[in-house]
Amino acid sequence: EPSCRVPQKGQRGHMTQQTETHAKLVVDDEFKVGPVHDRVFGSFVEHLGRCVYTGIYEPGHPTADEEGFRQDVIDLVKELGATTIRYPGGNFVSGYNWEDGVGPKQDRPRRLDLAWHSTETNQFGLHEMASWLRKAGGNELMEAVNLGTRGLAEALDLLEYANVPEGTARSEERIRNGAEDPFDIRMWCLGNEMDGPWQTGHKSAEDYGKLAASVAAGMRMIDPDLELVVCGSSSHTMDTFGKWEETVLEHTFDKVNFGSAHAYYFPQIMPDGSRDMASFLASGVDMDGFIKDVGAAIDATRSRLKSDHNVYISFDEWNVWYMGEEPSKNPEGIGNWPVAPRLLEDIYSVADAVVVGDLLITLLQNADRVHAASLAQLVNVIAPIMTEPNGPAWRQTTFYPFSLTAAWAKGGSVLEPKIESPQYHTDRYGDVASTNAVAVRGADGSVAVFVTNRSLDDECTFDIKLPEGFTPHEIEARTLHDDDILAANTLHDQHRVEPYTNDSASMHSGTVSVTLPPVSWTAIQIR
Ligand code: AHR
Repeated sequence: EPSCRVPQKGQRGHMTQQTETHAKLVVDDEFKVGPVHDRVFGSFVEHLGRCVYTGIYEPGHPTADEEGFRQDVIDLVKELGATTIRYPGGNFVSGYNWEDGVGPKQDRPRRLDLAWHSTETNQFGLHEMASWLRKAGGNELMEAVNLGTRGLAEALDLLEYANVPEGTARSEERIRNGAEDPFDIRMWCLGNEMDGPWQTGHKSAEDYGKLAASVAAGMRMIDPDLELVVCGSSSHTMDTFGKWEETVLEHTFDKVNFGSAHAYYFPQIMPDGSRDMASFLASGVDMDGFIKDVGAAIDATRSRLKSDHNVYISFDEWNVWYMGEEPSKNPEGIGNWPVAPRLLEDIYSVADAVVVGDLLITLLQNADRVHAASLAQLVNVIAPIMTEPNGPAWRQTTFYPFSLTAAWAKGGSVLEPKIESPQYHTDRYGDVASTNAVAVRGADGSVAVFVTNRSLDDECTFDIKLPEGFTPHEIEARTLHDDDILAANTLHDQHRVEPYTNDSASMHSGTVSVTLPPVSWTAIQIR
């Protein structure tokens, strides 16, 4: 077993007597939030740890194809239903020279990756990524440019290389390197987490805002229709949060389409050594507040500038991450820069998966603001898919809420969540709803509902009141739950946790009822 975080039993927090509660969701077609944006099911591949090397790319692996892409991983990525893939970072991009990753592989330089104290071999780069995406189901590439150690000139070079069909130095270089057709990348991130002091080339809001504005303007001279993402805050809790958004948007508002937001959650360790599971299960409350706060900054800037342009949110890093704990410690030492070390290889529990499902519900509830999002990351690094070098690939617990939500929500419309829920107390967020849910009306007329029971103790009878005249002929409910909320899938027990059919689903006079066990995530499809 790799040296990774396996949740310890007995960390459940507190135990009280189980009681039964009731919650209700009203499905009302009259109140739509907006379409389900396909890009909300994006993910993220960074040159970090084993996400690329021995993750998606491992020449010599028994399932690898002629380009070294692991077919077992491609199969799981397709099943996951991920859409947009953000690449190549993350913190990595802020020291990356994109030119190092193109051209004959034997000529590509090995470089120090300052972000993750590793060695980057550059055996995988833009061409490999574009080709891998085609094989993984035609997912969209969301490319990040380096605004840490580099700037406008290099971003323009990369855009010319990637998108100009032919007849210029950079486009001809791409053709010589094997790509006759341009990559036609539509969505571009203007740097990564530039507000973070840990970022190579970290900048003040003023300096970054001016740089991002000039890079956006330059890139638009090549292609005015690009979709550009300017860096928002790395977390809701950054000291600069709010002021950063205000300053950066002031400089860039009319030139960008998205502001980014990033958020990672984990159960904090309390003074008595236990983990604050109650607050952790309510992480969606914080994400929702974050989205509302960024939305307010966007609206305020829009009014101040008297602009009729609109900027949406790209929540392009979100997940559970046991940040700062053992698997996330960077290698150290002057001579110690390993290639693809095991980094950020968190093993996810049932409770973690319930939180991931809850965060996805929250992103959908805010479909009017959040038009794109990326689960960080895709393989091995805080990821729904794990691999062993020369060994198997398997699904973490968090794989399931993502794949089922993607499968049942894509193409539909999000309805306003009208929920009546009991409350429970958290140390971090006060009293919060114990049931979080969202309904999606499918293009085929079906209704899909995604719901979490955040309570550590109480089972909940959840009623879904259907629209007038909606007569279902089939109800399917799938639940992710385990009596051991810390149960996980591991190399040696890859199928320990899987969603099961929730047989409690029943229908009576226009209402579907489902029993939700404590700490559970459920998807219900009503056809
Ligand atoms: O996803 C892991 C890291 O988290 C990313 O590299 C960075 O952008 C964020 O801090």
